[in-house]
Amino acid sequence: FFGNCGEKQRNPRLTGFYKGHRLGRKDFPSGFQFGVATAAYQIEGAAFEGGRGLSIWDVFSHIQGNIVDGTTGDVACDHYHLYKDDISIMKKLGIDVYRFSISWSRIFPDGSGQLNLEGVSFYNSLIDCLLEAGIEPYVTLYHWDLPLWLENDVNVKGFLTKNIEKYFTIYAENCFKLFGDRVKSWVTINEVRTIAVEGYGDGSKAPGRCSISTSGIPKSRGDSSTEPYIVAHNALLAHAAAVQVYRKTFQAEQKGRIGIAVDGKWFEPYSDTSEDEAAAQRCIEFEIAWILDPLFGMDYPASMRKGAGDRLPKFSEEEHNILADSVDFIGYNYYTAYYAKHSEAYIEPAERWHLTDRLATTETSNSDGNLIGERFGPPDLGWIFNCPWALPKVLKWIEQRYGKQQIAKIPILITENGTMDMARNLPSDVACNDLKRIEYLKATLQHLAVCIKEHEYQVKGYFAWSLLDNFEWNSGLGCRFGLYYVDFENKQMRMACLPDCFDQPIMGIELST
Ligand code: NOJ
Repeated sequence: FFGNCGEKQRNPRLTGFYKGHRLGRKDFPSGFQFGVATAAYQIEGAAFEGGRGLSIWDVFSHIQGNIVDGTTGDVACDHYHLYKDDISIMKKLGIDVYRFSISWSRIFPDGSGQLNLEGVSFYNSLIDCLLEAGIEPYVTLYHWDLPLWLENDVNVKGFLTKNIEKYFTIYAENCFKLFGDRVKSWVTINEVRTIAVEGYGDGSKAPGRCSISTSGIPKSRGDSSTEPYIVAHNALLAHAAAVQVYRKTFQAEQKGRIGIAVDGKWFEPYSDTSEDEAAAQRCIEFEIAWILDPLFGMDYPASMRKGAGDRLPKFSEEEHNILADSVDFIGYNYYTAYYAKHSEAYIEPAERWHLTDRLATTETSNSDGNLIGERFGPPDLGWIFNCPWALPKVLKWIEQRYGKQQIAKIPILITENGTMDMARNLPSDVACNDLKRIEYLKATLQHLAVCIKEHEYQVKGYFAWSLLDNFEWNSGLGCRFGLYYVDFENKQMRMACLPDCFDQPIMGIELST
């Protein structure tokens, strides 16, 4: 009944799998960890409390027009004050691990180098309470909320110069020192690709740099044809430098592990032509391999060297070597898939990043008019399509590109997976019966279970995005990813939402054992 996640069909779907089958821990290898994930700016709130300094997101979210529903992360889920309640609901979920991020500007609010002890004590308390509840913390050091002082420092300019490496290393070292006695799993940077492309390519996320504003909102002017490549390069180097510090000074004693979280959609060819097949491969390289190739000891993909030419920075030999040995695990955030269509003649304004360099368009329907999967959310904002079948494809692609032996040494964790409901004032009873979201989570877990079983992919854990409805970046508070519904109008009240709907259960309340 495990169905077939074979490769012959274009979009293989598992059918008849969860009718009558109660997916549970028994379907995953022993030691497989289930968790939920969040990020500081998306949930903490208390933006101006506890000695916290501003981050680029505080500025970005307050600029009119940047966030679709005009909300900000000022209060968000108020997790800063309600974290104990949140740990209680985590306990109810029965999770093993919780992935959260540290707000850099709570630790170093300004450029003085002085630690903010109130920030430190918040995270100390969060970590202690988690451990007391039997939940293991996975800590992301950087989940997009760069301290404003680093963005504004003309010698640093955020991730635009290599100087970020020095500051990130100091910050990381302090976190290892302060929390590493209890935190055994570190993620350096979340989604380098998103930071680069959305922060500096289309400008939809902080710091909102782009050559041409696609939304008509004035964004700070940047060069979208070069900056995403530079930013990703510097972020990778910052990641590697932080890992070196961990390895050298902390790892042996603290006995932890360190990795990164990458994203990237899966791409199916738009048609059976070899051109579209090559386009799909290029798109995967421009998303996933861009970041993973250097981490597996390779240069950036050849397709990127060809497409971006000199705009793509080069690694020195030393940098190459440091990067090649810089992860104990790979975190992969899986959300969706698209079709890729070859387009030699695809010409966008030259200075706009987007897809020009990879000579492909991304489509939601293929040459036969078939939608890649059912869309979540409205056409203008919903970027997630229901494609649980694509996760095994990514895993297979990773194994084939980097080799079974390598992957056996560097296991994979699904550091995020989820989908959204979109409606600012969605009543809780509607959100809490969102069968489509439930199906999506179930189906993704089922595909994962099958593929681990059948192909022995080295996937060691799964984190649902997200524990709570939260501030979904430029999509604001109206875009709900939470296993728990949050009533933002009413004291951020949490309501068990999806977990209660699982019919004994996936990742939710009572995973059967
Ligand atoms: C990936 C990001 O890491 C997370 O912050 C975001 O909320 C989810 N994707 C959903 O868009």
